[in-house]
Amino acid sequence: MPNLSIQPSLLAADIGRLADECRRAADAGADGLHLDIMDAHFVRNLSFGPEVVKLARRTVSLPLSVHLMMTEPQRYVEAFCAAGATVLQIHQEARCDVAAVLAAIRAQGARAGLTLNPETPAAAAFPWLDAGQVDEVLCMSVHPGFGGQAFLPHVIEKARVLRQRRPELDISIDGGIGPDNAPACAAAGVNIFIAGTTLFRAPDMAAAVAAMRAGIREAAAGAARSGS
Ligand code: DX5
Ligand code: ZN
Repeated sequence: MPNLSIQPSLLAADIGRLADECRRAADAGADGLHLDIMDAHFVRNLSFGPEVVKLARRTVSLPLSVHLMMTEPQRYVEAFCAAGATVLQIHQEARCDVAAVLAAIRAQGARAGLTLNPETPAAAAFPWLDAGQVDEVLCMSVHPGFGGQAFLPHVIEKARVLRQRRPELDISIDGGIGPDNAPACAAAGVNIFIAGTTLFRAPDMAAAVAAMRAGIREAAAGAARSGS
């Protein structure tokens, strides 16, 4: 399985102190930062634009995972890659030519991510996975649009199916992730854990990151031993 990674989601940070919050996540031991881009169309909410990605890029050296909750992501690939995205995640459900947008992301020098909403089956990603066009599949474990929602456990099975199909794939999970459910996700094959509320709003972010890391390491090691 690829490396385990914990990525706090900036959506839950103190919006008035974003640079400090990026540094706080890095100091707490985060392996990357996740930035949610919402267009008030694909989802009801509005959040950040490329300027916030640029701010994060010049503030910390962590990988930046940029999650485009946008109906027409193709219009913004260049802007977000230029802003410093390490991986750019589009939605399978967006109104776009998925293969073309994934190729455009790679052509701009970022890793190509494909996101699946909770109801979208793993098989929906297979055509692009099997064609080798995807570097990371992001499984939404809440309905996208807002932080602080309850985790949807049925998504764990989807991660398991994806892991069986692609042992080397980066598989991330996003939405309602915390110490209670992260180990079960790791056991199913998730290796990238995106968490907003449980990390940025923890009393001690470093302790929260460390506790999550201990739980997922143990679960991933257990799964590897049992061959699941
Ligand atoms: C939801 C976003 C998530 C969100 C997660 O649409 O994609 O990244 O920030 O926040 P929590 O961890 O609070 O559910
Ligand atoms: Zn997200």
